[in-house]
Amino acid sequence: MIYNCDLPCSFFLSLLSVLGSSVVFIQQPHDLVVVAGQPVTLPCSITGYHGTVLWVKDGLALGVNRDMSGYPRYDVIGDHSKGEYHLLIQRTELTDDGSFECQAIQAATRSRPARLTVLVPPDDPVIIGAPVVSLRAGDSLNLTCHAENAKPAASIIWIRNGEVLNGAAYTKTLLRDGRRESTVSTLHISSSNIETGQQITCRASNKAAPNGKEATVTIDIQHFPLVNLSVEPQPVLEGNLVKFHCAAKANPPVTHYRWAKGGNMITDATGDTYEVLVDHSFFTEPVSCEVTNALGSTNISRNVDVYFGPRLAAEPQSLQVDRGSDAVFSCAWIGNPSLTIVWMKRGHGVVLSNENTLTLKGVRQEDAGKYVCRAVVPRVGVGEKEVMLTVNGPPSISSTQTQQALYGEKGQIKCFIRSTPPPDRIAWSWKETVLESGTSGRYTVETVSTEDGVISTLTMSNIVPADFQTIYNCTAWNSFGSDTEIIRLKEQGNNQFTPHPKQPNCAELSYSKRSAPDRDYAHLRSVSGCLMIPAVLCSPQGLCAWPSSLGLQWELSWLSSSSLGPWGLSAALDCRGVSELIVSTETETQRRLAPHVH
Ligand SMILES: *[C@@H]1O[C@H](CO)[C@@H](O)[C@H](O)[C@H]1NC(C)=O
Ligand SMILES: *[C@@H]1O[C@H](CO)[C@@H](O)[C@H](O)[C@H]1NC(C)=O
Ligand SMILES: *[C@@H]1O[C@H](CO)[C@@H](O)[C@H](O)[C@H]1NC(C)=O
Ligand SMILES: *[C@@H]1O[C@H](CO)[C@@H](O)[C@H](O)[C@H]1NC(C)=O
Repeated sequence: MIYNCDLPCSFFLSLLSVLGSSVVFIQQPHDLVVVAGQPVTLPCSITGYHGTVLWVKDGLALGVNRDMSGYPRYDVIGDHSKGEYHLLIQRTELTDDGSFECQAIQAATRSRPARLTVLVPPDDPVIIGAPVVSLRAGDSLNLTCHAENAKPAASIIWIRNGEVLNGAAYTKTLLRDGRRESTVSTLHISSSNIETGQQITCRASNKAAPNGKEATVTIDIQHFPLVNLSVEPQPVLEGNLVKFHCAAKANPPVTHYRWAKGGNMITDATGDTYEVLVDHSFFTEPVSCEVTNALGSTNISRNVDVYFGPRLAAEPQSLQVDRGSDAVFSCAWIGNPSLTIVWMKRGHGVVLSNENTLTLKGVRQEDAGKYVCRAVVPRVGVGEKEVMLTVNGPPSISSTQTQQALYGEKGQIKCFIRSTPPPDRIAWSWKETVLESGTSGRYTVETVSTEDGVISTLTMSNIVPADFQTIYNCTAWNSFGSDTEIIRLKEQGNNQFTPHPKQPNCAELSYSKRSAPDRDYAHLRSVSGCLMIPAVLCSPQGLCAWPSSLGLQWELSWLSSSSLGPWGLSAALDCRGVSELIVSTETETQRRLAPHVH
C-alpha cells in the first residue's frame, strides 16, 4: 500500500501534529552514508504513540507499520511495544539513495528528514589494450584507463615502479541514472621515457573503494631487427674458412635470415651464420645479411679483409711504335694488402717504373723487346705479365763479319736481319753479281723468317779459292730505310784426328788448308791431355815444323815457303784418357772428339 503524499497528505499530517502534542521521537533517523551492498538501519523510536507509523522516501510512502511488501529488501524492525520502527535496508542499492522520514500518522508528527547516501565503488578499471600494449620504438604512448559506474566519480592515478606519474588528463561523465559517473584518464608518455617490459598501473578509487582497484599493462616496444654482422677471422688468407655471424635483436622475434654476396642470393645459408672458404672476390663484393621480423627487415653488409696475391685488373697490351715516338704501357693489379708494381725490361735488372704506367720516351730500336709488369703483395704473392715492344725502324743486320767454309765443299754465308716492319727486299752482292733470291750459277739465296728475325742464306757449291778473296754485301730494306753488312769468307782448316797407324794408344792429328795462311807462319795450339810424341813433323808438301814446347800444352809453328797452294801438317799424339781435343789456329778454333785409342 502506497500513500501518495502530495498536497492532501501533508495537509492531513499537519492536522495530526496539532492534535498529538504528547507524541515524542526518542530516536530519529539521521544522515547516513553506506556503500552499496551493505545493510543500513535508519532508526525511529516514538514514545506514547500507538497509531500508524509510516516511512516516506523522497516524499513517497513506503509502507505502513511493518508492512514493506512492496520493498523486499526493506524491513521495519525493533520492539513495537516500545515504539521502535527502525527501517532496515538489506544490501543497499543506488536506488535507496534519498531522503527518508519516519511519520507518526495519527499524532500528525514526523521525524526530521535523513539523507541516505549510497556510495558505489568503481567497476574494475580497464586499460585499453591491456594486458600488453605494443608500440614501435620511437613512438610516444597514450594510455587510457576507464573506471566506470562509480559514485562518487572515481579518481585515477597512474603508477610505475611505485611512483605516481603526473600529467594525466581525465574526464568524468554522469550516467543516465544521474548518480554514478565514469572517469576516463589518459596518460601521455614520451618515447624517451618508456622501456619495454615496464608495467604501468592504473588505480581507481573513491570513498566506496578507498584502497582503490587496479589494472596493469605491460609495455612492449617493438623494433626492426638490430643487427651486428661479425666476420671471423680477419684478416684472412685467401682459401681459408671464414665465419659470418649475424647477431640480431628483434621484437617481435626474427622470422628469417637471408644472405647475399655482391647482389646474388646465397641460397644455402638460411640461419644466423654463414661459413665459406673465401677467395679474393670477398674483398670487393660485400656479404650482406638481411634479418626480418614482422615489422620489417634490416640489411647490413661487410667486406672481408682477404689477403690475396696480385690479380690482373687491366692487362697491359703489347705495342708497336715508330722509332722516336713514345711508348706507354699500363697494367693494373689488385691485391691485398697493398701491392707494389715494378716495370722492368726482360733480361735487364733495372726498375723502370713503380707506377701502373711505364712511359718510354722517344724509343729507339734497342728499346724493342719484352717488358714485364710485376706486382708483389709482400708475403702473399707475386704476379707478372709480359708485353712486347716492337719498334718500327730500318732493318738492323747482325751477322758474324767473317764466316768460314771448307775449300772444295759447299759453303754458306748467313745474314741475320731484325726488321720491323719486315724487310721489303734483301739483296746479296759480290763482285758484279747481285742476287735477291733463287739460284745463279754456283750461288743460291734463300730467306727464312724466324721469331727473332729473318735469315738470308747465300749458299755456294764447290768453293774455289776466289770465293775467299771477295766481300759479300748483304743489304736489307724496309719503309724506314736499309742496313748493310759486309761479310768475308775465310777458309776453314780441315782437321782430322785419327788413331795412329803404327803407335798404339796414339792418335794422329792432321791439319790442312788449301789457301795460304794469313802470315808466313801459323801456330797450332791445343789445350788437352795429349802428349806430343817428340818428332819433327812435316807436311805432305814437305814443309817441316818443330814442336816449340812439350807437355800438356804444345805449340807448333812453321814457315811457309809460298803463299800459294795447299799446306798442312800432322802430329802424333799420345791421347790416353782424352775425350776431346781443341785445336786452334790464329783464325779458328775447332773441337774434335778424340778417336778411339787402344
Ligand atoms: C596521444 O595524444 C596526444 C594528445 O591527444 C596526441 O597528439 C598524440 O598523437 C597521441 N599519440 C598517440 C601515439 O596516439
Ligand atoms: C652490436 O655490437 C655492439 C657493440 O659490440 C653491442 O653493443 C650491441 O649490443 C650489438 N648488437 C647486437 C644486436 O648484437
Ligand atoms: C642487402 O642490400 C644490398 C644493397 O641494396 C643488396 O644488394 C643485397 O642483396 C641485400 N641483401 C639481401 C640478403 O637481400
Ligand atoms: C752494298 O749494297 C748496297 C745496295 O746495293 C749499296 O747501296 C752499298 O753501297 C753497298 N755497300 C758497299 C760497302 O759496297
